[in-house]
Parts: sequence; structure tokens; C-alpha cells
Amino acid sequence: MICLGLASLSVRAGALPQSDPAQAEPLVTQVCAACHGADGNSINPTVPSLAGQGAHYIYEQLTVFKAQLRNGVMSAIAVNLTAADMRNVAASFAQQIPRPVLRSAIDSNLVAQGERIYRDGILAKGVPACASCHALNATGLAAEFPQLAGQHALYLIEQLRAFRSGNPASNSNAMMRALAVNLTDREIDAVAQYLAVMNKPRNFAYFGAQVVIGLGNRNSPPNSGNHEAKTELAAIIPALFGRESSRRTSWLLQ
Ligand code: HEC
Ligand code: HEC
Repeated sequence: MICLGLASLSVRAGALPQSDPAQAEPLVTQVCAACHGADGNSINPTVPSLAGQGAHYIYEQLTVFKAQLRNGVMSAIAVNLTAADMRNVAASFAQQIPRPVLRSAIDSNLVAQGERIYRDGILAKGVPACASCHALNATGLAAEFPQLAGQHALYLIEQLRAFRSGNPASNSNAMMRALAVNLTDREIDAVAQYLAVMNKPRNFAYFGAQVVIGLGNRNSPPNSGNHEAKTELAAIIPALFGRESSRRTSWLLQ
């Protein structure tokens, strides 16, 4: 788990260098919270949760919405965002803690079929394993690959169908389009149900990695990469344990 966190950390750490999650607070509470939840955990199954989603991925999607390359309610919202807004808000949601959603009845046969597709792909149709890009625990391997674990099934189904339809108003990612055309409705339902019931481990893997790096390098000079890791650690501890814990992390930055 920690190894995975470390691997993704190396990709993600420098992804959004000039971001300040604290500055996103008014935007999050006044705009995004209404649909995505104040803590990034959406209770509407057609609105994606953003808590713990990769900052780089959130930022990318906002730029795509702003350029009107992915349409819908978000494209109207994104037009008003500056690049700095997008970086800050992305960093802010990436730090939020994903929480399990209330789940309706689960069809265990469907979930098992979804697990096979996710882990092994569908050989006969040349569908690659989703895990090869989104990671076995569905936290996304590289910064471009979104976390899918624990996302609302309905939202995932809508996105996969949109990729499959090739509708120009939908997400235009070529990799996902090429693969989704080979999926039936039932296969889409199955893989979405499997992902929706998965735990969302990223923050904890990420947190573990930060602790290891931060604690292991307490004496590193201020401008080294280690200092950057410590700064991130100091930022993520309050995100996980509440703001009052930030006092206890100040020694990290000395
Ligand atoms: C009126 C409701 C609404 C508001 C307000 C809203 N969103 Fe969204 N957002 C949605 C819906 C619905 C989707 C998914 C539909 C789609 O693909 O167009 C979405 C999708 C997204 C996505 C893509 C997530 C993914 O997994 O691909 C991002 C990123 C996002 N919103 C960020 C934001 C941010 C940041 C704000 C505040 C500045 C915000 N949203 C405000 C409804 C909203
Ligand atoms: C070759 C790499 C690759 C493989 C294999 C892959 N994906 Fe993706 N997936 C991506 C990338 C990259 C994106 C982000 C697209 C973008 O930037 O708009 C994505 C996005 C998605 C999204 C949209 C998430 C969101 O929050 O809107 C879903 C859902 C998804 N993938 C499901 C799957 C499933 C299910 C499989 C297996 C059947 C799969 N992916 C296999 C690379 C891949």
C-alpha cells in the first residue's frame, strides 16, 4: 500500500506547483459545494465525488470544460474560472477525505463480473484490463488516470456510455473511447457496480507515503525535494485530522 502511494507520489507531487488549496475555500463553499458536497463527497449519484481525486486530473477536466470540449452544466461554470482558481480548487478537493456513500442493493453476480473485467479485461474482444491504467485499487496509476474507486455507479455508467457513443459533447479521451465501444450495457453496469463498492484507499496510501518521506528526512535543507514532501505532509495532516492538528505538524517545516 505504502509502495503504491510512493509510486504515485513521485508522479503527483509536482503536478500543480503553484496551488494554494486555502485560497479555493470561497469558491468551494459558494459554488462547488452545492453539487459536489462541501467536503467533495457528492450525495447525488449523477454528480461525481471529487474528494481524494487526483489534483492533476481535476485541473485537466476543468480546462477541458472551460474550452467547451466537454459539455454540460460544468462547462458554464468553468468559463468563469481562472487558471489559478482551477489549480487551487483541484488541490483543495484532492486533499479531501473520500467517504463511503450509502449504497442501494448490490447484485453480487454483477459485481463479480465487474471485478473480472476490471482486473483481466475481456480477452475475446480485445478490451484491456482497466487496472492496467487505473491501478488494481482503482486510485489511478499516473496523474492523468482518474481515481474510480468508490465513485457513484450511475455517474460511471453515464461516463462509460458517453465514451462509447463518441458524442462530441462528452469527454473526448481517445483511449477510453476506443475501449468503451467494445463494452455492452451489462458489462458497463458490472464494472461500474464493482468500482462503486470499492473502498477509496488513496488518501491513506498517500498519507502513509508522506509520513515515511517526511519523518525519514526531517533534517533536509529547505529547498530540497524532501522539504517539498514535508510541506505536503504538513498540509495533508490537517486535511485528515482537522485543522487543530496543524499545530502539531509545524515542527516538520522547521
Ligand atoms: C450545478 C451543479 C454543479 C456545480 C455547482 C459544480 N459541478 Fe462539477 N460537475 C457537475 C456534474 C453534474 C458533473 C458531471 C457531469 C458531466 O460530466 O458533465 C460534474 C463534473 C465535474 C468534474 C469532472 C469530474 C470527473 O470525474 O471527471 C470536475 C473536475 C468538477 N465537476 C469540478 C467542479 C468544481 C471545481 C466546481 C466549483 C467551481 C463545480 N464542479 C461545480 C455538477 C456541478
Ligand atoms: C490505456 C489506459 C486506460 C485503460 C486501459 C482504461 N482507462 Fe479509463 N481512463 C483513462 C484515462 C486517461 C482517463 C481520463 C480521460 C480524460 O482525461 O478525460 C480515463 C477515464 C475513465 C473514466 C471517467 C472517470 C471520471 O471521473 O469521469 C471512467 C469511468 C473509466 N476511465 C473507466 C474505465 C474502465 C471501466 C476501464 C476498463 C474497461 C478503463 N477505464 C480502462 C485511461 C484508461
